[in-house]
Amino acid sequence: MAKVILGLLILVPSILPVAPKDTADFIRERNYPVEKHTAVTQDGYVLSLFRIPYSPRRPSRPGPKPAVLFFHGLMCSSDFWVIISPEEGLPFLLADEGYDVWLTNSRGNTYSRKHLTLSPNDKKFWQFDWHEIGVYDATASIDFILSTTGEKAVHYVGHSQGCTAFLAMLSMRPEYGHKVKTSHLLAPVAFMSRVPSKLMRILKDFYLKMPDMETFYNVPPINRINKMMCSGYIIRNLVCRNIAFMFGGYASPHLNMTLMPLIAGIAAAGVSTRQIKHYAQLIDSGRFALYDFGAQLNLQIYRSPSPPDYPLRDAYTQQPIEFYYSDNDAMSAVEDVEQVISSLPNARGHRMAFKDWGHIDFIFAYNLKKHLNNDIINTFNTFESRYSGAYAN
Ligand SMILES: *[C@@H]1O[C@H](CO)[C@@H](O)[C@H](O)[C@H]1NC(C)=O
Repeated sequence: MAKVILGLLILVPSILPVAPKDTADFIRERNYPVEKHTAVTQDGYVLSLFRIPYSPRRPSRPGPKPAVLFFHGLMCSSDFWVIISPEEGLPFLLADEGYDVWLTNSRGNTYSRKHLTLSPNDKKFWQFDWHEIGVYDATASIDFILSTTGEKAVHYVGHSQGCTAFLAMLSMRPEYGHKVKTSHLLAPVAFMSRVPSKLMRILKDFYLKMPDMETFYNVPPINRINKMMCSGYIIRNLVCRNIAFMFGGYASPHLNMTLMPLIAGIAAAGVSTRQIKHYAQLIDSGRFALYDFGAQLNLQIYRSPSPPDYPLRDAYTQQPIEFYYSDNDAMSAVEDVEQVISSLPNARGHRMAFKDWGHIDFIFAYNLKKHLNNDIINTFNTFESRYSGAYAN
């Protein structure tokens, strides 16, 4: 009987047709203003961008505000930047500092499931990976922000795949280096041959055999069950913590456990299997190379039997690309990050002082402002006070 009641307690609320909260709801709940915009990519995907145009804590300063683009990680969305409290979260802190904050969403996730001619039911819709997310989605997001605000360049903050996409964009479309002021890559993923995650290695072999299709998408009733389970202390610590850490980095004591139910409520946000397959290829090849379609197709597409490397030497921005990485990041080994830093013409590494800092701690840790965000904000403000003239209208 007790089991039945418990079952009903979990099931009934989870099947109620309640609209899940979206990024705008999270921002509004934290008492910040929000706008929703859409940008269309060169290849027809319609992306949703959320904007925090100003902070209620700081009276609007006159004149144009410097703009910031945030790009989320794999299986994530713009939600992942704003479930944190405004005292700790970078988008809110930057709004407080007078920045115009934009959170984009990669093609195929919960917020970017539209296309000018294709539908998510079409196979063709899912034929993309983080290469297109960098070359098309990041560039479209930047251009949309610049044309809406009249700014000449943006600051960029990426987490995980948001960093891979940034490096793909800058190396393939080096002209975008002129549209970037400072850039901050958190838990960056590029070279992957030393990736510590055992789960990733298991998933790798499974996914390499999969066709291009949607995976790890959002199922609201399941999210509601997960959210509820992760709210209880015991399950939260036994199950939810471990699931989060499998992806993120093992036994990190830094993850703010209060955020756990919120994370369970928004993950995962939908990707194409090809995003995972492309990462899997990097693990096997040890290279940071374009997608491998197989020798025959490669010949047609790249005129060579194997895909070319991303030309990282061309990925240049005037300010050093700032890499924030750590020793307990299951998705990104220190040696792999240092290899990409040394392959770039202008990059700087910041290895986290905590040996146990993990992959998602960069966005969900306790005292995130003190341990990470203050440092990033300093770089933003130093740039704006010194160089903003060079980018003024
Ligand atoms: C942990 O997260 C909660 C909810 O966002 C927040 O209120 C609290 O300040 C955070 N704690 C720390 C130490 O960051």
